[in-house]
Amino acid sequence: MSKLALYGGSAVKTTPFGTGRRFGQAELDYLAEALEQNSLFYWRGTMVKRFLARFAELYDMPYAVATSSGTASLHVAVGALDIAPGEEVITSPITDAGTYIGILYQQAIPVFADLDPHSYNMTAASIERVITPRTRAIMVVHLAGNPADMDPILELARKHNLLVIEDCAQSYEAFYHGRRAGTMGDIGCFSTNDFKHISTGDGGMVLMRDETLYHRALRFADKNYQRLPSAETLRNADRLAPNYRMTELQGAVGLAQLERLEGICARRSELGERLSAGIRDLPGIHVPHVQEGCRSSYWFYMLRLDPEVAGVDRQTFSDALKAEGIPNSPGYIPAVVYAANLFQNQTAFATGHLPFELAPSAVPRYAPGSCPEAEAILKSAVRLTINEFYTDSDIDDMIMAIRKVCDHFRRSPLSS
Ligand SMILES: Cc1ncc(COP(=O)(O)O)c(C=O)c1O
Repeated sequence: MSKLALYGGSAVKTTPFGTGRRFGQAELDYLAEALEQNSLFYWRGTMVKRFLARFAELYDMPYAVATSSGTASLHVAVGALDIAPGEEVITSPITDAGTYIGILYQQAIPVFADLDPHSYNMTAASIERVITPRTRAIMVVHLAGNPADMDPILELARKHNLLVIEDCAQSYEAFYHGRRAGTMGDIGCFSTNDFKHISTGDGGMVLMRDETLYHRALRFADKNYQRLPSAETLRNADRLAPNYRMTELQGAVGLAQLERLEGICARRSELGERLSAGIRDLPGIHVPHVQEGCRSSYWFYMLRLDPEVAGVDRQTFSDALKAEGIPNSPGYIPAVVYAANLFQNQTAFATGHLPFELAPSAVPRYAPGSCPEAEAILKSAVRLTINEFYTDSDIDDMIMAIRKVCDHFRRSPLSS
């Protein structure tokens, strides 16, 4: 067994990881077409409309609305579904702030459900434990490209008459037993920020089947203006709504990016599975669990380390992997979402405790330890990058490096 690079040996990865260009001639052509229109306003031009039509077609959904971000998409979902002040929305404690921002802006209350230790997603059982008479919706986050176990969640939602919002910001083309993440609940929300599978710089989309919901979402993303032919006037708003419009420039880039989407997701899926297959047997390593018959599109790859079994603490494992030429980071977000001051002090706005004070809870809502599995995941996770430009041999180098580090510490555990 060769010496670890951390201790002066030679690194496993000596060649650069595969890279490539995300944008090309197709994006340039559509952008030129957008500018030729002499208007960059979505309702006048064709780019956003074509982008949405193609996305809806790909997902086999009748209705799509464009937004300015993933955060905006989720806010549109909460607004369009008429979730009321003081109502509770159950969501994940490991996610981006964009998941809960729209809930709070609508004066609804995020409630966090614990996660499965290996898929890192909420489960029907963990959701059921936090349902109260005030619960109105479940906002499922399909984390890192891996679809949550939706059938039991949908059944639970039916039983309790709850709405289901899917946060698919990280999970394009993720399949749950043949169905795409984003098509199973009442509304599916996507992000096209620059870090996602496809990028329009910033942007987002919302998918739904219900026509009334579509009309509401369209208006909620556009200051509640009534742009569809209707008896109503353009500006007779009955509710407050933000301006989350997508521009024609974003629509043009999005249209081109959609041509790449399936290839990107299929490749990421292939690479993620290759990595799991290469390290699954290692004692002390837990690979992310993707259900049989489902597909993760691996927005990132997150394994868990059991230091007792692996013989190495997480920081040393991470440092050793880095020294072998494999970039990684311990954990994902620094702490569960409810650890943030905003939740601990219940201070979403400048003064007072709205919306939390609308529905005081008998048990403290955001107490440390309230989602123990989620907290444990963040303490033991190691995050690796998966990129569609990686070659098979990049993944094989990652496997070799992880195996080398694990073999070393199995033979010479740090504690001994
Ligand atoms: C799970 C999840 N939800 C929502 C968002 C928000 O998306 P955006 O950054 O486009 O507002 C993100 C972005 O990182 C995300 O990862």
